This record gives sequence, C-alpha cells and structure tokens, in this order.
Amino acid sequence: MADDKVLTDVPRKSPSLPKLGEQQTYGSPVADPENDAHHQVTDNVSNGAESSHSHDHQAHSHSHDGEAGSHHTHSHHGRAPFTEDEELEERQHFETVVAAFRYYRTHAMKKIARQRNHYQSLTKPQGERLPQFMDHLDALRQCTAINQQFLDKILLQTPFDNTFGDTGGGDGIQSQPVSTFHMDKVHTTLRMFVRDWSREGQTERQQAYEPLVAAVEKYFPKDKCDVSQIQILNPGAGLGRLPWEFARRGYTSIGNEFSLYMLLASNFILNCCQEVDGYKIYPWIGHASNNLSSANQMIGISIPDISPTDLPPGHNFGMVAGDFLEVFDRNETWDCVVTCFFIDTARNVLEYVEHIWHLLKPGGYWMNLGPLLYHFADIPHESCLELTYEHVKTVIKNTGFQMLEEKTDIPCSYVQNPYSMLRYEYRCVSFVCHKPDLKASFVDASGNSLS
Ligand SMILES: C[S@@+](CC[C@H](N)C(=O)[O-])C[C@H]1O[C@@H](n2cnc3c(N)ncnc32)[C@H](O)[C@@H]1O
Repeated sequence: MADDKVLTDVPRKSPSLPKLGEQQTYGSPVADPENDAHHQVTDNVSNGAESSHSHDHQAHSHSHDGEAGSHHTHSHHGRAPFTEDEELEERQHFETVVAAFRYYRTHAMKKIARQRNHYQSLTKPQGERLPQFMDHLDALRQCTAINQQFLDKILLQTPFDNTFGDTGGGDGIQSQPVSTFHMDKVHTTLRMFVRDWSREGQTERQQAYEPLVAAVEKYFPKDKCDVSQIQILNPGAGLGRLPWEFARRGYTSIGNEFSLYMLLASNFILNCCQEVDGYKIYPWIGHASNNLSSANQMIGISIPDISPTDLPPGHNFGMVAGDFLEVFDRNETWDCVVTCFFIDTARNVLEYVEHIWHLLKPGGYWMNLGPLLYHFADIPHESCLELTYEHVKTVIKNTGFQMLEEKTDIPCSYVQNPYSMLRYEYRCVSFVCHKPDLKASFVDASGNSLS
C-alpha cells in the first residue's frame, strides 16, 4: 500500500471535491516542504466528513478532542453519492477550516493588542515597574508569526485540489473574523502535534499509546503470526501517531478521522515531513494564564521527533477520512480495532460497540484505552447517552464480547502543557475484548472444523 493508492470508490458529482471513505497512503516520496517544485503529496485525497463535537467541558480548555464545541454533522453513508446539498456543506466547511487556519495570526494579534492597550493605560509609575512587558508582547508576536507560517505550510500541502478552494496564503488574506469555536480548533491542532509528534509528547504517548501497542503485540505476536496480514483499524486517530506505530511494527494499519483540522494536519506531518525536528511551533503562546515565566509560555516545540517516513519497506499504512460509523462496512474484515480516547466521542456508545463488533472478524480483538468525557454531553440541542463505565461494560458483555483484560485508574494527560501551573490528569480505563469465533468451537476431537 505504500505506493499503490487504495481507494474506496465513492461516486461523485464533482471531481474537485474530496471523497469520504478514501484511503490516503503514507510513506511515499516526501515533499520538500520548503520547495514547491519538489512538492508531491499523495494525491488520493481523503477528506473529513467532519463532525465535530467534543467540547470544552470545563471552562479551562482540556477538551481532549481534535474538535471541540458545536458540530458539523455529516449524514453521508459509506459509499452513497453526495447530494448537491452535502457537497455544498462540505465545501463550506472546508472553507471555514481554511479560514480558521489563516486567521490564526490576526486572532492572536488582537489578543496581544488588548494586552498592549491595557499596559499602555497604566500610570507611568506602574509601567515603569514592569519595563519588560512590551518585550514580552513583541516576543509573543514573533512566535505567533512563526506559528502562522507553519499553519500556512499545512494549507499549502493540502491534498485537496485547488478547485476546492484556495488554500494558499496566510495572515492578512483572511480578513473576515472566524468564530472562537473554530480558532480553538486551530489551537488544539497545534497542541495535537505536541502529543503525537514531539519529544514533549512522549509522556502522553507512553501513558496512552504504549499499553495499546503492547496489547496488540501480545495478542498478535510477531513470532506466531505474519503481522503484515493482521489488519488493525484505529478510529479517531488524531494526527496518526498510534496507527503509524502499528505500521512501523509491520502490521497493516489504518487510521480514521473525520475532523478536517486533524486530516489537514496529519496529511502534512505524515506525507510532507521527513526531517526530524524540521519545524518549531509555539503551542502554548495562546494561553496567558498559569505560566511561570515568559520563557515557559514561549517554549518552542520541535517536530517531528521521528521521521514519519521511517516505516518498514512494503508497509501497509493509510488514513481513511470520514465518520467511522459510515465509512467502514460491517463486513467482519478487521483482526483488531484499537480505540484511544475515542469511545466517548459517541452520541450513543452502544452504536460504537455494536459497530466495532460487526467490523471485527470472529476471533478478533478490540483494545481500548481512554476516559469517558462524553463529547456531546451538555451541548445545547444535542443529546448523548452518558453511561458510566459500569454501564459500558454491561453493553460490551451483552453484545457478545469477552473481556479478557481490564484496568482502571490509569493516569493519562491529554494535550497537556507540561510547564503550566494548571494540569489535568485523567484516570483512564483500558480493556482488551475478544469477539468469540463461534465457528471455531465446532471442531472434532482432532481439531478439524465441523462447520
Ligand atoms: C479525543 S480525540 C483522540 C485522538 C487520538 N486517538 C489521541 O488519542 O490523541 C478523538 C478523535 O476522534 C475523532 N472522531 C470523533 N468521532 C469520530 C467518528 N465518528 N469517526 C472518526 N473520527 C472521529 C475526533 O475528530 C478526534 O480527533
């Protein structure tokens, strides 16, 4: 899959629009991000049926979603053609996301300008007691400009063709204000780079990804099976590090996302970044509270910590865009479904559990780790089934899964600023579930299948 492009074919009216359910492969020749002449993004575009949901449950922003807040819902079904209205909705949403990326600097500068105005309104003696504050604001402006350049690069490397919308340019071009909701998404996107692709994110990855990788290696060990034949699906993959880790270990690994913010950013990191530490971003500059020092607020984070092209030859790795409930057929083809900080994105967890059941082959495994921060809870005009973990377990067992392993109270942080005076910690649950292979139980005394 490294070189062939595997697409699920969605009939379309307009060839310029990206398709749902398409798989984008990674690890193909990497573009030189500095040089458009060498720019080559894998062109089997995937796009987000983005819905977004998640929200900042608490006033402090620790929402663990790539998308937080209100949502943009898509009702496309796996392979059904888009209606014109849906295409229009897709296009408008894409344009909103591009506008949000472009508006980052203007938005941040407005905030800095408010600080400057406030500072300048101080009495002279007060200002003299804090002479370095203007320098602090100047430095923030510089970091903001660098972040904007980075976001512009993501837009320039978008896999969508230009007829879908002009994605070039940066600050200044986007003059229409963009809602705080969408600007929060841009900030979250920057922080997701830290979680998935920086050294600073290593602790979070050790907490959340490593147990899942270990579980996969335990149930599909290299010495007992041909791991390239083991198909792993990771819905809600964010910036793709977890499915990438599976691909790196030789498994066939597919990530899935529906947030366009995440899809644009994952395309950039997975398809267009080769050099370790090739970029520096300043993900915490937008958070003026709880910083010990200017230096802490303006810590630069280098990405990526590892070359995303560092995959074994012949690897099978891809990202599929769209709502995982809609873009994957219930045809029992997956050996393993891995969910990380994901099941609470459901409006109805029962639907997720049921869908995972039908995606898995008989004998397949579902590994999960995460909290239950229901993303749709408390969102006006939304309803969401808010089950306790005990309820979720009952559902899992009544669906037919056998819970082989379970752990609670696993400390995990999520897109956490490690330097902040305010830090949140989840106490997550993890489990490994098995979908019994009922056929396998009909064997004769010699182990021959009777079915
Ligand atoms: C909390 S984030 C977790 C991301 C990643 N697994 C991690 O641990 O960093 C949940 C992700 O799931 C995505 N998502 C939510 N519902 C989805 C759905 N129905 N289909 C595909 N992706 C979805 C969101 O866009 C978001 O990026």
